[in-house]
Amino acid sequence: MKALIDELDTHHILSGENLLSLLENLDEENKQYLHTKANRNRLQHYDDRVYMRGLIEFTNYCKRDCIYCGIRKSNKEADRYRLSKDEILHCCDVGYQLGYRTYVLQGGEDPYYTDDRVVDIVRSIKEKYKDVAVTLSIGEKSYATYKKYYDAGADRYLLRHETHSRTLYERLHPHMSYDNRIRCLEDLKAIGFQVGAGFMVGLPSQTNGDYVKDLLFLKQLEPHMVGIGPFIPQSDTPLAHEKGGTVEKTCILLSLVRLLLPEVLLPATTALGSLHSKGREMGLKSGANVVMPNLSPTNVREKYALYDGKICTGDEAAHCRKCIENRIEKSGYHVDMSRGDHVTRAM
Ligand code: 5AD
Ligand code: FES
Repeated sequence: MKALIDELDTHHILSGENLLSLLENLDEENKQYLHTKANRNRLQHYDDRVYMRGLIEFTNYCKRDCIYCGIRKSNKEADRYRLSKDEILHCCDVGYQLGYRTYVLQGGEDPYYTDDRVVDIVRSIKEKYKDVAVTLSIGEKSYATYKKYYDAGADRYLLRHETHSRTLYERLHPHMSYDNRIRCLEDLKAIGFQVGAGFMVGLPSQTNGDYVKDLLFLKQLEPHMVGIGPFIPQSDTPLAHEKGGTVEKTCILLSLVRLLLPEVLLPATTALGSLHSKGREMGLKSGANVVMPNLSPTNVREKYALYDGKICTGDEAAHCRKCIENRIEKSGYHVDMSRGDHVTRAM
């Protein structure tokens, strides 16, 4: 196994067969070896810096029905909310005071936020703060819509591909098309966004073969960011009683992505932190170099319940800012509050 890890470390590519062999046969010693190599790669490209993004969950209305997700439209238990433009700008104000220079506006696919409304919000943030990056994460749109967002000043876009297994994708996403998902990612890249793709770990029936497809797809797409988190069952969804993903498997996949795409911006996700009290720290040690603390108003946080047991729902933004800094420093890394662009886009 060590030889395969070395090959991946040197060439940043491995055949599907070898990736599968790694996933199937990693013992404890090789797992540590993999994490060490991944961590070394991140140190080479980004030093010991961990980039901070302020996450603003601005709507939990969603027209989609993804069967794993707590804000799916069929979930009648979800307590729906939307933040107004002023409330969103207020979150940015609070974030700016705390030092954040990247805001991630995430939400369900909410038709209330027309192109004009999103454009207005993005423009207002970018006009108010000249030195920040705006990331959008609001789902599948047309090329024309993405272009409007970009022209309004949005810098980045997150759209996880969720899984690169077509059959699994179609089972999880009623009335959605896997081809359209990929089309979106390609359009976003062509327009010029810094693009984030990514997938969940431990979905029902997901296999090591499926992860190999995710890894090879990511290598080919070459996104600037990759979000990987464990699937965590949400009690009001059809997958409520399924088993979720593990911290261990998620960290292995983080390390593999770090070695495949050494320059990628890789978050230690909230889902990972929700599974285990030291989940995000373990993610960082596996090659992750981004964290996304929550800037949403505390009175809505619990309502953005994509999965059960989400951390930080009762904590003020300032508390999370300090908490995460302590965790990062204790793990031997340093907080970086700059925009944190991808190395190929640094301004
Ligand atoms: N468990 C873990 N992650 C989830 N997401 C949605 N529902 C869940 C869940 N139950 C992830 C998806 C989505 C991101 C915003 O949250 O990958 O892209
Ligand atoms: Fe929110 Fe630790 S990051 S309390």
